Amino acid sequence: VTKQQPIKAQTHLAKRYYTAGDPGKRIISNSFLFHFRPRTVPDRTLQFHLTWGLGGMAAVLVLVQLCTGLLLKFVYEPNPALAHASIVMLQNEMQFGKFIRSIHHWSANFLILVAFLHFLRVFFTGAFHPPRRLNWLIGLGLFVLILLANLSGYLLPWDQLAFWAVTICTAALAYIPWIGGWLQASLGDGAEIDANTLHIFYSLHTALVPLLIVVCMAFHFWRVRKAGGLVIPKSPGEQLSAKQDRVATIPNLLLREAVVAALLLAFVFSLSALFAAPLGEPANPGLSPNPTKAPWYFAGIQEMLMHVHPTFAVVVVPLLFGSFLIILPFIRFPHNTAGIWFGSYIGRRTSLLAAAAALILTIISIVLEDKFFAATKWFPSTPVIISGGLIPVALILCFFGTACLLLKKIVAATLNEIVQALFVYAMVSYIVFTIVMVWFRGQGMVLGWP
Ligand code: HEM
Repeated sequence: VTKQQPIKAQTHLAKRYYTAGDPGKRIISNSFLFHFRPRTVPDRTLQFHLTWGLGGMAAVLVLVQLCTGLLLKFVYEPNPALAHASIVMLQNEMQFGKFIRSIHHWSANFLILVAFLHFLRVFFTGAFHPPRRLNWLIGLGLFVLILLANLSGYLLPWDQLAFWAVTICTAALAYIPWIGGWLQASLGDGAEIDANTLHIFYSLHTALVPLLIVVCMAFHFWRVRKAGGLVIPKSPGEQLSAKQDRVATIPNLLLREAVVAALLLAFVFSLSALFAAPLGEPANPGLSPNPTKAPWYFAGIQEMLMHVHPTFAVVVVPLLFGSFLIILPFIRFPHNTAGIWFGSYIGRRTSLLAAAAALILTIISIVLEDKFFAATKWFPSTPVIISGGLIPVALILCFFGTACLLLKKIVAATLNEIVQALFVYAMVSYIVFTIVMVWFRGQGMVLGWP
């Protein structure tokens, strides 16, 4: 079936192909697939550079996690005295034990990366405008669930790395006003994590979070259909004709998805065969490693903690950014840029400018603050929450305000372009923070070359 054939002929052919052979089974699979997916999709949405297959890759990785997780559950013991030993036994004595654990480890990490890239592509193609508003919010929920799945799984091997990385994260809960102390007390023994924490993380990781992910994913896919499929890609300024050329989903879309899934699986499996998932010494609550770092996906927040007051790093800044993401689809933008990468020509340039500025200014501020001008030293008699929290964050907000005014005055940027530039700045800054914490902080958290 080729794209050039009239649509009626294509769906007819697809139907004939699937009902050939064993008619009963074929019809069931055919109608299942056609209910799960539309019968036809707009020709243009098949362009690979619209999605890069990222949403589909995330879905495949979730499936890999569910399958390998189910296998690991046969062996794992959620008890501090047995957890580490059960993993050692899995690796040394079970057929393919090490391989399956490595697949689970690598695809969990890739899932965060792939979901993050998918989130960026949805943002930069303006796919959060109505009618995709609700799906944007479901996607945000999915992202939080993926982080929770990763963090809760991180603790399970109960080795030094897991124990101390999770301790850092649960210790940060104390800075959440009103509920922080209660959250910490419900998870473990104050700031310490213990058998109770392991049990809660195990239940979250193997039951509640996967269940929520599967439900949200089903809802997410259904909303893609309800919105009439993916955003239709177009060039800046291009007017689309009301009726789009459509092609049959099977085989046109299905084949593309199968190729992406096969390549992804080949990559994850090869990586897992070559590099085993790490496993350190059993957890020792009396001996913390130096340096003790949070998992890489929270390392940016840990780096922020080195520069601003914990309440701001752990609560205020994530809350501000989270609220921005939630209200984003409700902002009344002058242009609906759905389907146009970066929205416009000016949008592309301002995003590039914002990325370059964020890269340079974030590196400079980290080095200057760390080595020369700790904000708290400027105002020694002022409470730290003001000198190390309120003042730096207020200065950053002033900088953002000035940047918006300049963009409006100098390049006549629209609200779409300004919001996008601020988003790019925040994203690049966070990535720089993450890289600095992961690679450029050594013993005693001293800043230096890796
Ligand atoms: C487990 C995580 C996720 C999975 C499995 C997933 C899966 C998918 C798939 C398969 C699609 C359709 C095709 C594609 O874009 O590749 C899609 C579209 C979409 N996703 Fe996700 N997604 C996830 C997370 C997210 C996140 C974090 C966001 C953003 C906050 C998001 C927002 C959207 C939106 C708005 C669409 C519609 C895009 C359009 O119409 O072009 N998703 N998702």
